[in-house]
Amino acid sequence: SAAEKGGYDYFMLKEIVEQPRAIADTLLGRLSADGELTLDEMRLSPSELRSVEKIVIIACGTSYHAGLIAKYAIEHWCRIPCEVEVASEFRYRDPILDQQTLVIAISQSGESMDTLMAVRHAREQRAKVLAICNVNGSTIPREADGVLYTYAGPEVGVAATKTFLTQLAACYLVGLYLAQVRGLKFGDEIEAVIAQLATMPEQIERVLDTVEPVRELARSLADVDTVLFLGRHVGYPVAMEGALKLKELAYMHAEAFAAGELKHGPIALIEEGLPVVVVVPSPQGRSVLHDKIVSNIQEVRARGARTVVIAEEGDEAVRPYSDVLIEIPAVPTLLQPIVATVPMQVFACELALAKGNDVDQPRNLAKSVTVE
Ligand code: G6P
Repeated sequence: SAAEKGGYDYFMLKEIVEQPRAIADTLLGRLSADGELTLDEMRLSPSELRSVEKIVIIACGTSYHAGLIAKYAIEHWCRIPCEVEVASEFRYRDPILDQQTLVIAISQSGESMDTLMAVRHAREQRAKVLAICNVNGSTIPREADGVLYTYAGPEVGVAATKTFLTQLAACYLVGLYLAQVRGLKFGDEIEAVIAQLATMPEQIERVLDTVEPVRELARSLADVDTVLFLGRHVGYPVAMEGALKLKELAYMHAEAFAAGELKHGPIALIEEGLPVVVVVPSPQGRSVLHDKIVSNIQEVRARGARTVVIAEEGDEAVRPYSDVLIEIPAVPTLLQPIVATVPMQVFACELALAKGNDVDQPRNLAKSVTVE
């Protein structure tokens, strides 16, 4: 009913605007003002977490993209090697697991059969399994050794939105907590991240307040057949998520590439008028990456691409090469996916609506896939 949708025509529209709240609820009680993390509820003891020598993240679909982003944060903060794999591939390649391996299974529903089977395989190999899940008491957390719940509330739209952002928040919490229990000295960078993590709900609110041009852009692109996405560093999995949303909702050919790979093949796809969405890393700090992606934008534009650039506000270097510039707030690099994903969700949703698609129930897809 209209009431259930909070006055919106689709649950997805409501779920996109609920994201600030979902993140706030997921951080509540876990992140204190002095930067201490409290995750005792996870059921994995600090001594178990100190013995971890390797992390393997398994998930499907959008949850897999959260895992890809988590790897950047966990390896950087904790210096623990971290692999990420789609759950459906994991157990079939005889992965190397032991008691010192922490497997993190990310699943919104807690019922994806591919992820559940991967969890069972990991436990048979005596690895510890931590579930990141949005549904209390679902199968994956019940079978795991520990669980960290996300508090996005029920998500009805088949394409994940608010649960993805809360998975990111949960992954950051796990990474920061691992660093804390392992006694790693928290430098200025991590302190800044902890402080900024708490401000994410306001930052998302600001993005939501400025997305009208993204909607206009989406409507103007309803007739194109292909959209490409480029990103580097954490912007690459964000680009993958942007492409997945467009496939799921708008049934369009959408593909993401690591911007550095462009010259190794994908640049041959660029032709006059092709929309290319680029996620630009912050110009601060990691300026090398930033400069490289600015060259990538120039390269595709010189070959006729229509560039849609998602960049930090005040990033003047990208402006001359952006057909459309979408500004997002300045946040630490590793947290940028939280703000950079939002315009992509709005873009895919609006484009799908312009095509007359049902964004809550896209064709051929299920909210949770309980067969392998
Ligand atoms: C299905 C849904 C996706 C979701 C994926 C993983 O394919 O359509 O939106 O990302 O399952 O679901 P999970 O519940 O395991 O996160």
